[in-house]
Amino acid sequence: MSEKEEKANSTDSTQTGAPSVPGKMVPIFVMGKRYEVPETLTIMKAMEYAGFKFIRGCGCRGGICGACATVYRKAGDYKLYVGLACQTVVEPNMYLTQIPFYPANRAAYDFSQLEPTPEEIFKLYPELFRCVACNACTKACPMDVEVMDMISALKQGNIAKAATLSFSCIQCGLCVSRCMGELPQYHIAQLARRIYGSKIVPRAEHLNKVVIATAEGKYDQCLHTLMKMGEEELRKLYQEREMEPAMADEDWVPTDTKYL
Ligand code: FES
Repeated sequence: MSEKEEKANSTDSTQTGAPSVPGKMVPIFVMGKRYEVPETLTIMKAMEYAGFKFIRGCGCRGGICGACATVYRKAGDYKLYVGLACQTVVEPNMYLTQIPFYPANRAAYDFSQLEPTPEEIFKLYPELFRCVACNACTKACPMDVEVMDMISALKQGNIAKAATLSFSCIQCGLCVSRCMGELPQYHIAQLARRIYGSKIVPRAEHLNKVVIATAEGKYDQCLHTLMKMGEEELRKLYQEREMEPAMADEDWVPTDTKYL
């Protein structure tokens, strides 16, 4: 996050129209109408400052949920820019609009019945082959996902590569809004990640051991002891716990390994 974005995120987001944010004011245009807003605000906070209220198109405010896709232009520049309203700081004379829910095709399937093969994805999303490799999807991605490469990997039958390439996707739908082949890239990528994570990647053996130990009651006594403690006692225990050093080796273990 840039210094400017940090400043913006430290501003009270509950304000609507109260000009209590310090700093220079800049003009922005929301759906064609001009507003003066503090230059340090994100698009989301600037719109709230201007009197807009987010009922949809806003979720986490932290760049995670993908609800706040935005398209904008800058004065004197033909280029269409994309971003997340909660993460992008306003610029003078920015012309912007929020993208509402985008009607992308989402296939229905019984996940338990799917085979971990590319053909399953092809059957559910045959439009995948309408991709003309124009790369507009990649250019539209605010998370820098190589969207077109992800689609190409699937066309080549490589689910693992598609899942890995799309790991940072937050499902904002901006790729779909720019696709001339009318692909629902983010839904396709999500299916690839589901198949990869559930049916291809090897099971984590250590996780399996912990699940079995939990079911066998290894942690019952410890949990009962914790549940009987008062708030102060719990706080002390938490504050005095042994912590992993910041620069610990990969094989670091705590002194007490009873519950590992
Ligand atoms: S509100 Fe969740 S990514 Fe912006």
